[in-house]
Formats: sequence, structure tokens, C-alpha cells
Amino acid sequence: MTAVDMAVTMGALALKNPVMTASGTFGYAAEFADVCDVGALGGVVTKGISLQPRAGNPVPRICETAAGMLNSIGLANVGLEAFAADKMPYLRSCGAAVVVNFFGETESEYVECAARLSEIPGVAALEMNISCPNVHKGGIEFGRDPQAAGRLVRECVAAARVPVWVKLTPNVTDVVALAGACLESGAGGLSLINTLRGMAIDARTRRPRLATKFGGLSGPAIKPVALRMVFEVHRAFPDAPISAIGGLQSGEDAAEFMLAGATTLQVGTQNFVEPDAAVRVLRELRDFCAAGGVTRVLDLRGALQA
Ligand SMILES: Cc1cc2nc3c(=O)[nH]c(=O)nc-3n(C[C@H](O)[C@H](O)[C@H](O)COP(=O)(O)O)c2cc1C
Repeated sequence: MTAVDMAVTMGALALKNPVMTASGTFGYAAEFADVCDVGALGGVVTKGISLQPRAGNPVPRICETAAGMLNSIGLANVGLEAFAADKMPYLRSCGAAVVVNFFGETESEYVECAARLSEIPGVAALEMNISCPNVHKGGIEFGRDPQAAGRLVRECVAAARVPVWVKLTPNVTDVVALAGACLESGAGGLSLINTLRGMAIDARTRRPRLATKFGGLSGPAIKPVALRMVFEVHRAFPDAPISAIGGLQSGEDAAEFMLAGATTLQVGTQNFVEPDAAVRVLRELRDFCAAGGVTRVLDLRGALQA
């Protein structure tokens, strides 16, 4: 079989291969150490971290849907200090690049989080989750307004010592405008997509299935939306490093996202079904390339004939 060079560079960050795990679906990685060869992966993206610990939303906060799931976890996490002290030691030694997902409720929280997380030894990059309500602006998500998102990204990039990737919400009319604002503000990469806002109802009890009524839809159901958005953003900004997320289940899915323009790939909901899904996706992607005579995985990037 053809040997395949799986190495990629995502902006300034060199990775041994493009396959990573998506934020919130792989804990702090140590939870998966017994069931997944974490060190084989190009990288892991941690659970979203905030300055203070958060308990998240009331239960039920997860529910299964056709070809996916809804969650309203509410960004539960241990907080920055416990993350640095208790979670980083394993992450630092796990053999995969560590990308720390983070968020804030205010601009200043975002900026402080970016500055402090980027000083922790072993953090390769940050991933900024901008799908968060701004408590100073009546709860409107930062990530829905290109101007607000651009300003926030600029401040976080200035405060951070490592590359800052921006994770875009699909819950917008024009994802290209949002991507452009983030790139202009210095984003070192774009991660897309986050979950799609949805709802599930139990007709028998006549109640919403989630305590918060609405939640984020993920899993194979959202893959076509994610592919479309990766393609649109790549077409508008061919040099932008893109980390594709959304319903990724197989090596062939990974190849599709790379053809659409992605440089790296994140496996999310599938980790709940199969804890070593990302390692299988990596193996399948390598086999897919070898079988097709592709000697460098990066040769797939943007190679869609459209
Ligand atoms: C239970 C759960 C928790 C998540 N937590 C976060 C989070 O903390 N920060 C974030 O940016 N995205 C979070 N996400 C979104 C995922 O990282 C990913 O963008 C989304 O699920 C789409 O990918 P998938 O279809 O492969 O799951 C979460 C998703 C799920 C299902």
C-alpha cells in the first residue's frame, strides 16, 4: 500500500495528523485514556473552559434525536485554575496537541481567559467558542454579529501567546461574513461548525424533552450543513486554516471535509457511541488515501471538483 504523509499544518501549528476530538465530547481526554489511544491523534480539543467553575444547566440536558442528539449542558466545566492544576498534567503528556476551548460571559472574561490559558505550558492553541450569550448585551450571542465577534477576537488574539482558532456558530444567515470578520481580526484558524439550535418534545407528557426547552443539535444529522459551511468559507478564503466539525463518523467523511477545504477534522458526538472513534477515523482516512494513491493527506484539501 502507498505510504501516506498524514502531517498537516493548521496556520502556525504543525500536527502529526489532521484528526482531533471536538470540544465537550471527549472530556479532558484522561477519561478516555483506557479506551482510546489518545497519543495517536493529531490533537484533542478540551471541554470549554471559563474563568470560574460552572455546574451547567438543570437535567435533563441530553436527548437522542433522529441521526443525532440535542444537548443543553450549559458549558459545565471545572474552571481555569482546576483545569491548569488537575487536567493539564495528563494532557501535557498524552502525545496529542492540546487545543483548549474557552469562553466567557463578558468581553473581559474572554480576554482574561485567553491570556491566562495561553500561558499554561503545553497548550498548543486556543479555540474560542463565540456561541455564548453576552450578559452585557441582553444575552445576544457574540458569535452572531460579525462586528462584535471581530472586536472580541482581536482582543483575545492580542492577549494570547498561542494561535487562537475561532469556533463559529452555524446559527447565522451569513457564515462567510462572520468568518471574514474573525480572519481580519487575526484568527489563527476557524473551527466550524458548533451545534444547531433545536428542540425535542415528548407528546405523551406534552413537555419539552430538555429542561431548558432548546438545545444544540449534533451528530450525522448536521453533516450536510457543516460540509456546506466549510465549503463556503474555504471558497471565500482559500488560505484560511479550517478545522471541520459536524457529524464526522468515518474516514470517508473526513476526506469529504478535506475536499471541501478543511485542514483538520474534529470527531464529536461519535465519541459517545464509540470512545475510540477518532482513532478509527484516522486509520480509515489513511487507508482511503492509500487506496486512492494519495501520498499526502493535505493534497485532498480543497480538491473538490465543483
Ligand atoms: C455534549 C456536548 C457538549 C459540547 N460542549 C461544547 C463546548 O464546551 N464548547 C464548544 O465549543 N462546543 C461544544 N460542543 C459542540 C461540539 O464540539 C461540536 O461542535 C458539535 O457537537 C458538532 O460536532 P458533532 O456532530 O461531531 O458532534 C458540545 C457538543 C456536545 C454534543
